[in-house]
Amino acid sequence: MLSKGLTEVSRLCYSTRDQQEEIMSVEVTWYGHSATGIVTPMVKLLIDPFFSGNAQAAATADEVEADVIVVTHGHSDHVGDTVEIAKRTGALVVSNFEIINWLQAKGLENVHPLHIGGGKSFEWGRVKLTIAQHGSSMPDGSYGGLAAGVLLYLGGVRIYHAGDTGLFYDMKLIGKDDIDLAMLPIGDNFTMGPDDALSAVDLLEPKMVVPMHFDTFDVIQQDAAEWAGRVERETRATVQVLQPGESVTLGEDD
Ligand code: NI
Ligand code: MN
Repeated sequence: MLSKGLTEVSRLCYSTRDQQEEIMSVEVTWYGHSATGIVTPMVKLLIDPFFSGNAQAAATADEVEADVIVVTHGHSDHVGDTVEIAKRTGALVVSNFEIINWLQAKGLENVHPLHIGGGKSFEWGRVKLTIAQHGSSMPDGSYGGLAAGVLLYLGGVRIYHAGDTGLFYDMKLIGKDDIDLAMLPIGDNFTMGPDDALSAVDLLEPKMVVPMHFDTFDVIQQDAAEWAGRVERETRATVQVLQPGESVTLGEDD
């Protein structure tokens, strides 16, 4: 996938919509919890690839494909199967500096460290880490830096995957980037619950929202359909409540 169309994408602008951007078709699959797959004509991405031990998981770690894996923070339900999948596929792993150090110690070599507020433009698109209000210790208890959210600029399509976070007012700033799809935790207990996630949609003003990080564990059971109804009544966003394994396609009808 990476060899296709590299010359075209090098001409794209990732920073503002004032300049000409090509819109490409982007398929986003929610695998359950926060695990997300994104496929464009340029790249196959996985975010927070938690499959083993994820009762919701709609795929297994030994079958998913990836060119790039992005990890939002060090908790085991987000690092998930990163090491195994990266070793099998050779995928580039992008995360914060401390998590990248930890992954290198596990034997991963194809890595790129970022940190909050920083982004990097690759041939297939741009990745930027945002703040998130959450912890980030690694599965073995070692230091994992700060938890992050992820902004992806994939041609003209912009996706915000919030990772694990509480509500924060700077979502207003993230929303200035014209988000096409926001993936937001609604589970409560460890992250925003439904009320704060509704406020997050108000601040972000995305075109579409997909809820995540709910129903995986007893303490994060939520009625996502009821939440979706509230969001659609009270904001301009449309909500897609996906079942694990279901997808939405962006960039075709914009
Ligand atoms: Ni977490
Ligand atoms: Mn989590």
